[in-house]
Amino acid sequence: MPEERSIATVGAGLVGSGWALVFARAGYAVRAYDPSEEVREGILSWASDSLKDLAEIGLVEDPDAILARISVHDTLSKAVEGVFYVQESVFETVEAKSAVSHELDAVIGDDVVVGSSSSGIPASQFTEGCKNRARFSIVHPVNPPHLVPVVEIVPAPWTEQVVLEQIAALMQEVGQVPVRLTREIDGFVLNRLQGVLLNEAWALYQDGIASLADIDATVAHGLGLRWSFMGPFETIDLNAPGGIEDYAARLRGLYAGMVRTPPPGPWPDDVIARAAEERRAELPLEDLAGRRAWRDARLSRLASFKKNQGLMG
Ligand SMILES: NC(=O)c1ccc[n+]([C@@H]2O[C@H](COP(=O)([O-])OP(=O)(O)OC[C@H]3O[C@@H](n4cnc5c(N)ncnc54)[C@H](O)[C@@H]3O)[C@@H](O)[C@H]2O)c1
Repeated sequence: MPEERSIATVGAGLVGSGWALVFARAGYAVRAYDPSEEVREGILSWASDSLKDLAEIGLVEDPDAILARISVHDTLSKAVEGVFYVQESVFETVEAKSAVSHELDAVIGDDVVVGSSSSGIPASQFTEGCKNRARFSIVHPVNPPHLVPVVEIVPAPWTEQVVLEQIAALMQEVGQVPVRLTREIDGFVLNRLQGVLLNEAWALYQDGIASLADIDATVAHGLGLRWSFMGPFETIDLNAPGGIEDYAARLRGLYAGMVRTPPPGPWPDDVIARAAEERRAELPLEDLAGRRAWRDARLSRLASFKKNQGLMG
Protein backbone atom coordinates (compact mmCIF):
# COMPACT_ATOMS: atom_id res chain seq x y z
CA MET A 1 0.00 0.00 0.00
CA PRO A 2 1.45 3.41 -0.91
CA GLU A 3 1.54 5.84 2.00
CA GLU A 4 -1.50 8.16 2.13
CA ARG A 5 -0.71 11.61 0.73
CA SER A 6 -1.52 14.47 3.08
CA ILE A 7 -3.45 17.71 2.75
CA ALA A 8 -3.63 20.50 5.35
CA THR A 9 -6.85 22.38 6.05
CA VAL A 10 -6.10 25.72 7.72
CA GLY A 11 -9.09 27.23 9.50
CA ALA A 12 -11.76 24.79 10.65
CA GLY A 13 -14.94 26.85 10.82
CA LEU A 14 -18.04 26.16 8.73
CA VAL A 15 -16.11 25.81 5.48
CA GLY A 16 -12.77 24.40 6.68
CA SER A 17 -14.44 21.51 8.50
CA GLY A 18 -16.40 20.62 5.34
CA TRP A 19 -13.15 20.63 3.34
CA ALA A 20 -11.62 18.16 5.83
CA LEU A 21 -14.45 15.74 5.00
CA VAL A 22 -14.03 16.28 1.24
CA PHE A 23 -10.35 15.29 1.31
CA ALA A 24 -10.63 12.53 3.92
CA ARG A 25 -13.50 10.76 2.15
CA ALA A 26 -11.42 10.81 -1.06
CA GLY A 27 -8.66 8.89 0.74
CA TYR A 28 -6.25 11.67 1.75
CA ALA A 29 -4.79 12.10 5.23
CA VAL A 30 -6.11 15.48 6.43
CA ARG A 31 -4.10 17.62 8.86
CA ALA A 32 -6.51 20.22 10.27
CA TYR A 33 -5.46 23.39 12.08
CA ASP A 34 -7.40 26.18 13.77
CA PRO A 35 -6.05 28.62 16.38
CA SER A 36 -9.25 28.29 18.43
CA GLU A 37 -9.11 25.46 20.95
CA GLU A 38 -12.90 25.30 21.03
CA VAL A 39 -13.03 24.88 17.25
CA ARG A 40 -10.25 22.26 17.29
CA GLU A 41 -12.10 20.27 19.94
CA GLY A 42 -15.31 20.26 17.90
CA ILE A 43 -13.90 19.11 14.54
CA LEU A 44 -13.89 15.36 15.02
CA SER A 45 -17.30 15.05 16.69
CA TRP A 46 -18.88 17.20 13.95
CA ALA A 47 -17.12 15.11 11.28
CA SER A 48 -18.26 11.90 12.97
CA ASP A 49 -21.92 13.00 13.05
CA SER A 50 -21.80 14.21 9.42
CA LEU A 51 -20.17 10.98 8.23
CA LYS A 52 -22.83 8.90 9.99
CA ASP A 53 -25.51 10.79 8.08
CA LEU A 54 -23.64 10.41 4.77
CA ALA A 55 -23.17 6.68 5.40
CA GLU A 56 -26.86 6.26 6.21
CA ILE A 57 -27.82 7.40 2.71
CA GLY A 58 -25.00 5.58 0.96
CA LEU A 59 -22.86 8.60 0.10
CA VAL A 60 -19.82 7.20 1.94
CA GLU A 61 -18.67 3.76 2.98
CA ASP A 62 -16.69 3.08 6.14
CA PRO A 63 -17.16 6.37 8.03
CA ASP A 64 -14.76 5.22 10.78
CA ALA A 65 -11.90 4.84 8.30
CA ILE A 66 -12.61 8.32 6.89
CA LEU A 67 -12.69 9.85 10.36
CA ALA A 68 -9.40 8.15 11.25
CA ARG A 69 -7.69 9.98 8.37
CA ILE A 70 -8.34 13.39 10.00
CA SER A 71 -5.79 14.60 12.54
CA VAL A 72 -6.06 17.89 14.40
CA HIS A 73 -3.02 20.10 15.08
CA ASP A 74 -2.49 23.12 17.31
CA THR A 75 0.10 24.93 15.18
CA LEU A 76 0.20 25.81 11.51
CA SER A 77 3.73 24.47 11.04
CA LYS A 78 2.75 21.03 12.41
CA ALA A 79 -0.34 20.92 10.20
CA VAL A 80 1.60 21.52 6.98
CA GLU A 81 4.30 18.90 7.68
CA GLY A 82 4.61 16.60 4.66
CA VAL A 83 1.56 17.95 2.81
CA PHE A 84 1.38 18.58 -0.94
CA TYR A 85 -1.68 20.86 -0.79
CA VAL A 86 -3.11 23.38 1.69
CA GLN A 87 -6.73 24.55 1.69
CA GLU A 88 -6.95 27.83 3.62
CA SER A 89 -10.34 28.83 5.09
CA VAL A 90 -9.72 31.65 7.58
CA PHE A 91 -11.78 34.81 8.09
CA GLU A 92 -12.76 36.78 4.96
CA THR A 93 -10.62 39.87 5.50
CA VAL A 94 -7.52 40.99 3.60
CA GLU A 95 -5.65 41.20 6.94
CA ALA A 96 -6.45 37.60 7.99
CA LYS A 97 -5.82 36.18 4.50
CA SER A 98 -2.57 38.13 4.17
CA ALA A 99 -1.28 37.10 7.62
CA VAL A 100 -1.98 33.41 7.11
CA SER A 101 -0.66 33.41 3.51
CA HIS A 102 2.65 34.91 4.64
CA GLU A 103 2.83 32.43 7.53
CA LEU A 104 2.23 29.59 5.08
CA ASP A 105 4.71 31.04 2.61
CA ALA A 106 7.43 30.78 5.26
CA VAL A 107 6.82 27.11 6.14
CA ILE A 108 5.63 25.28 3.01
CA GLY A 109 7.87 23.02 0.96
CA ASP A 110 9.03 23.77 -2.57
CA ASP A 111 6.18 22.24 -4.52
CA VAL A 112 3.28 22.76 -2.12
CA VAL A 113 0.18 24.44 -3.62
CA VAL A 114 -2.13 26.67 -1.54
CA GLY A 115 -5.82 27.19 -2.35
CA SER A 116 -7.77 29.90 -0.53
CA SER A 117 -11.50 29.51 0.13
CA SER A 118 -11.92 33.30 -0.23
CA SER A 119 -15.50 34.15 -1.26
CA GLY A 120 -14.62 37.30 -3.12
CA ILE A 121 -11.24 38.77 -2.17
CA PRO A 122 -8.88 38.05 -5.08
CA ALA A 123 -5.54 36.40 -4.28
CA SER A 124 -3.61 39.38 -5.69
CA GLN A 125 -4.76 41.37 -2.65
CA PHE A 126 -2.99 39.10 -0.17
CA THR A 127 -0.28 37.03 -1.88
CA GLU A 128 1.75 39.64 -3.79
CA GLY A 129 4.59 39.68 -1.25
CA CYS A 130 4.84 35.87 -0.91
CA LYS A 131 7.99 34.29 -2.36
CA ASN A 132 5.90 31.27 -3.41
CA ARG A 133 3.09 33.41 -4.83
CA ALA A 134 3.06 31.47 -8.13
CA ARG A 135 1.64 28.52 -6.15
CA PHE A 136 -1.24 30.39 -4.48
CA SER A 137 -4.72 30.57 -6.03
CA ILE A 138 -8.31 31.06 -4.99
CA VAL A 139 -10.17 27.75 -4.68
CA HIS A 140 -13.60 29.01 -3.67
CA PRO A 141 -16.15 26.43 -2.51
CA VAL A 142 -19.83 26.70 -1.67
CA ASN A 143 -20.91 26.02 1.89
CA PRO A 144 -20.85 23.20 2.90
CA PRO A 145 -18.18 21.96 0.46
CA HIS A 146 -18.73 18.26 1.22
CA LEU A 147 -22.34 18.57 0.00
CA VAL A 148 -22.16 21.26 -2.70
CA PRO A 149 -19.38 20.32 -5.13
CA VAL A 150 -18.65 23.40 -7.25
CA VAL A 151 -15.33 25.22 -6.68
CA GLU A 152 -14.18 28.35 -8.46
CA ILE A 153 -10.49 28.39 -9.34
CA VAL A 154 -9.44 32.02 -9.69
CA PRO A 155 -5.78 32.72 -10.43
CA ALA A 156 -3.84 35.79 -9.34
CA PRO A 157 -1.93 37.34 -12.25
CA TRP A 158 1.19 35.47 -11.00
CA THR A 159 -0.36 32.02 -10.42
CA GLU A 160 1.37 29.48 -12.69
CA GLN A 161 -0.72 27.62 -15.26
CA VAL A 162 0.67 24.26 -14.15
CA VAL A 163 -0.51 24.98 -10.59
CA LEU A 164 -4.03 25.69 -11.88
CA GLU A 165 -3.98 22.38 -13.75
CA GLN A 166 -2.89 20.57 -10.56
CA ILE A 167 -5.67 22.19 -8.53
CA ALA A 168 -8.34 21.38 -11.14
CA ALA A 169 -7.16 17.75 -11.30
CA LEU A 170 -7.17 17.46 -7.49
CA MET A 171 -10.66 18.95 -7.22
CA GLN A 172 -11.98 16.58 -9.85
CA GLU A 173 -10.34 13.63 -8.15
CA VAL A 174 -11.91 14.42 -4.75
CA GLY A 175 -15.37 14.72 -6.30
CA GLN A 176 -15.70 18.51 -6.56
CA VAL A 177 -16.68 20.29 -9.78
CA PRO A 178 -13.96 22.79 -10.72
CA VAL A 179 -14.97 25.95 -12.59
CA ARG A 180 -12.07 27.92 -14.07
CA LEU A 181 -12.03 31.72 -14.25
CA THR A 182 -9.55 33.23 -16.70
CA ARG A 183 -8.74 36.17 -14.43
CA GLU A 184 -9.71 37.94 -11.21
CA ILE A 185 -12.99 39.80 -10.83
CA ASP A 186 -14.57 40.90 -7.55
CA GLY A 187 -17.04 38.31 -6.26
CA PHE A 188 -15.89 35.78 -8.89
CA VAL A 189 -18.71 34.16 -10.92
CA LEU A 190 -20.80 32.55 -8.20
CA ASN A 191 -21.27 35.54 -5.94
CA ARG A 192 -21.74 37.90 -8.90
CA LEU A 193 -24.66 35.73 -10.03
CA GLN A 194 -25.98 35.43 -6.49
CA GLY A 195 -25.52 39.20 -6.07
CA VAL A 196 -27.78 40.04 -9.01
CA LEU A 197 -30.53 37.85 -7.58
CA LEU A 198 -30.10 39.14 -4.01
CA ASN A 199 -30.03 42.80 -5.08
CA GLU A 200 -33.27 42.31 -7.02
CA ALA A 201 -34.88 40.31 -4.18
CA TRP A 202 -34.13 43.12 -1.70
CA ALA A 203 -35.47 45.74 -4.14
CA LEU A 204 -38.72 43.81 -4.76
CA TYR A 205 -39.17 43.38 -1.01
CA GLN A 206 -38.39 47.04 -0.30
CA ASP A 207 -40.92 48.15 -2.94
CA GLY A 208 -43.58 45.89 -1.41
CA ILE A 209 -44.07 43.97 -4.67
CA ALA A 210 -44.12 40.63 -2.81
CA SER A 211 -43.49 39.34 0.69
CA LEU A 212 -40.18 37.91 1.79
CA ALA A 213 -41.75 34.45 2.04
CA ASP A 214 -43.22 34.67 -1.47
CA ILE A 215 -39.90 35.80 -2.94
CA ASP A 216 -38.20 32.85 -1.23
CA ALA A 217 -40.95 30.51 -2.51
CA THR A 218 -40.38 31.73 -6.09
CA VAL A 219 -36.85 30.39 -5.92
CA ALA A 220 -37.42 27.30 -3.71
CA HIS A 221 -40.42 26.04 -5.68
CA GLY A 222 -39.66 27.62 -9.05
CA LEU A 223 -36.31 28.73 -10.38
CA GLY A 224 -34.28 26.65 -7.95
CA LEU A 225 -35.71 23.30 -9.03
CA ARG A 226 -34.14 23.50 -12.47
CA TRP A 227 -31.06 25.25 -11.17
CA SER A 228 -30.22 22.26 -8.97
CA PHE A 229 -29.14 20.42 -12.10
CA MET A 230 -28.85 22.91 -14.99
CA GLY A 231 -27.66 26.48 -15.37
CA PRO A 232 -29.42 29.57 -16.75
CA PHE A 233 -28.15 29.12 -20.31
CA GLU A 234 -29.32 25.52 -20.62
CA THR A 235 -32.60 26.52 -18.94
CA ILE A 236 -33.42 29.11 -21.59
CA ASP A 237 -32.18 26.85 -24.40
CA LEU A 238 -34.97 24.43 -23.43
CA ASN A 239 -37.59 27.14 -22.87
CA ALA A 240 -38.23 28.18 -26.48
CA PRO A 241 -39.11 25.87 -29.37
CA GLY A 242 -36.04 27.00 -31.33
CA GLY A 243 -33.58 27.03 -28.43
CA ILE A 244 -31.50 29.84 -26.99
CA GLU A 245 -31.59 32.08 -30.09
CA ASP A 246 -35.36 31.80 -30.29
CA TYR A 247 -35.61 32.55 -26.54
CA ALA A 248 -33.44 35.65 -27.02
CA ALA A 249 -35.57 36.82 -29.97
CA ARG A 250 -38.77 36.44 -27.96
CA LEU A 251 -37.69 37.73 -24.57
CA ARG A 252 -34.60 39.90 -24.63
CA GLY A 253 -36.78 43.02 -24.81
CA LEU A 254 -38.51 41.98 -21.59
CA TYR A 255 -35.20 41.51 -19.79
CA ALA A 256 -33.73 44.74 -21.17
CA GLY A 257 -36.73 46.57 -19.71
CA MET A 258 -35.96 45.21 -16.24
CA VAL A 259 -32.49 46.74 -15.89
CA ARG A 260 -32.67 49.08 -12.90
CA THR A 261 -31.39 52.62 -13.40
CA PRO A 262 -29.75 53.81 -11.30
CA PRO A 263 -28.39 50.45 -10.11
CA PRO A 264 -29.42 49.46 -6.56
CA GLY A 265 -27.12 50.74 -3.81
CA PRO A 266 -26.32 49.00 -0.51
CA TRP A 267 -29.33 47.29 1.07
CA PRO A 268 -30.93 49.94 3.37
CA ASP A 269 -30.71 49.47 7.16
CA ASP A 270 -34.46 49.83 7.76
CA VAL A 271 -35.28 47.23 5.09
CA ILE A 272 -32.73 44.82 6.55
CA ALA A 273 -34.26 45.35 10.02
CA ARG A 274 -37.75 44.60 8.69
CA ALA A 275 -36.57 41.44 6.89
CA ALA A 276 -34.68 40.29 9.98
CA GLU A 277 -37.80 40.77 12.12
CA GLU A 278 -39.82 38.60 9.71
CA ARG A 279 -37.15 35.91 9.51
CA ARG A 280 -36.70 35.81 13.31
CA ALA A 281 -40.47 35.46 13.77
CA GLU A 282 -40.28 32.49 11.40
CA LEU A 283 -37.02 31.06 12.78
CA PRO A 284 -35.70 32.27 16.16
CA LEU A 285 -31.95 32.88 16.34
CA GLU A 286 -31.44 29.93 18.68
CA ASP A 287 -32.92 27.61 16.03
CA LEU A 288 -30.52 28.67 13.24
CA ALA A 289 -27.96 25.91 13.95
CA GLY A 290 -30.70 23.27 13.99
CA ARG A 291 -32.10 24.54 10.70
CA ARG A 292 -28.56 24.48 9.23
CA ALA A 293 -28.30 20.78 10.17
CA TRP A 294 -31.75 20.24 8.59
CA ARG A 295 -30.52 21.97 5.42
CA ASP A 296 -27.41 19.78 5.30
CA ALA A 297 -29.50 16.62 5.69
CA ARG A 298 -31.75 17.75 2.78
CA LEU A 299 -28.66 18.67 0.71
CA SER A 300 -27.07 15.26 1.30
CA ARG A 301 -30.26 13.56 0.13
CA LEU A 302 -30.34 15.79 -2.95
CA ALA A 303 -26.67 14.89 -3.58
CA SER A 304 -27.58 11.23 -3.29
CA PHE A 305 -30.45 11.68 -5.77
CA LYS A 306 -28.20 13.54 -8.21
CA LYS A 307 -25.55 10.84 -7.90
CA ASN A 308 -28.10 8.13 -8.66
CA GLN A 309 -29.31 10.14 -11.66
CA GLY A 310 -25.76 10.64 -12.97
CA LEU A 311 -26.01 14.41 -12.41
CA MET A 312 -22.91 15.05 -10.26
CA GLY A 313 -21.00 17.19 -12.73
N1 LIG B 1 -19.69 30.40 5.02
C1 LIG B 1 -19.87 30.39 3.71
O1 LIG B 1 -20.98 30.33 3.19
C2 LIG B 1 -18.66 30.36 2.80
C3 LIG B 1 -18.79 29.82 1.51
C4 LIG B 1 -17.66 29.79 0.67
C5 LIG B 1 -16.44 30.31 1.11
N2 LIG B 1 -16.36 30.84 2.38
C6 LIG B 1 -15.07 31.39 2.79
O2 LIG B 1 -14.39 30.46 3.62
C7 LIG B 1 -13.56 31.17 4.54
C8 LIG B 1 -13.94 30.76 5.96
O3 LIG B 1 -15.29 31.09 6.18
P1 LIG B 1 -16.19 30.34 7.28
O4 LIG B 1 -17.61 30.61 6.90
O5 LIG B 1 -15.71 28.95 7.47
O6 LIG B 1 -15.84 31.22 8.58
P2 LIG B 1 -15.81 30.75 10.09
O7 LIG B 1 -15.83 32.00 10.89
O8 LIG B 1 -16.83 29.70 10.34
O9 LIG B 1 -14.36 30.06 10.23
C9 LIG B 1 -13.15 30.74 10.14
C10 LIG B 1 -12.12 29.98 10.99
O10 LIG B 1 -10.81 30.49 10.73
C11 LIG B 1 -10.11 30.41 11.94
N3 LIG B 1 -8.92 31.26 11.83
C12 LIG B 1 -8.83 32.58 12.04
N4 LIG B 1 -7.54 32.98 11.84
C13 LIG B 1 -6.84 31.88 11.52
C14 LIG B 1 -5.47 31.62 11.20
N5 LIG B 1 -4.57 32.61 11.17
N6 LIG B 1 -5.10 30.36 10.91
C15 LIG B 1 -6.00 29.36 10.91
N7 LIG B 1 -7.31 29.54 11.20
C16 LIG B 1 -7.72 30.78 11.50
C17 LIG B 1 -11.11 30.82 12.99
O11 LIG B 1 -10.71 30.38 14.30
C18 LIG B 1 -12.38 30.14 12.50
O12 LIG B 1 -12.56 28.87 13.10
C19 LIG B 1 -13.79 32.66 4.26
O13 LIG B 1 -12.83 33.11 3.35
C20 LIG B 1 -15.16 32.66 3.62
O14 LIG B 1 -15.41 33.78 2.81
C21 LIG B 1 -17.43 30.86 3.23
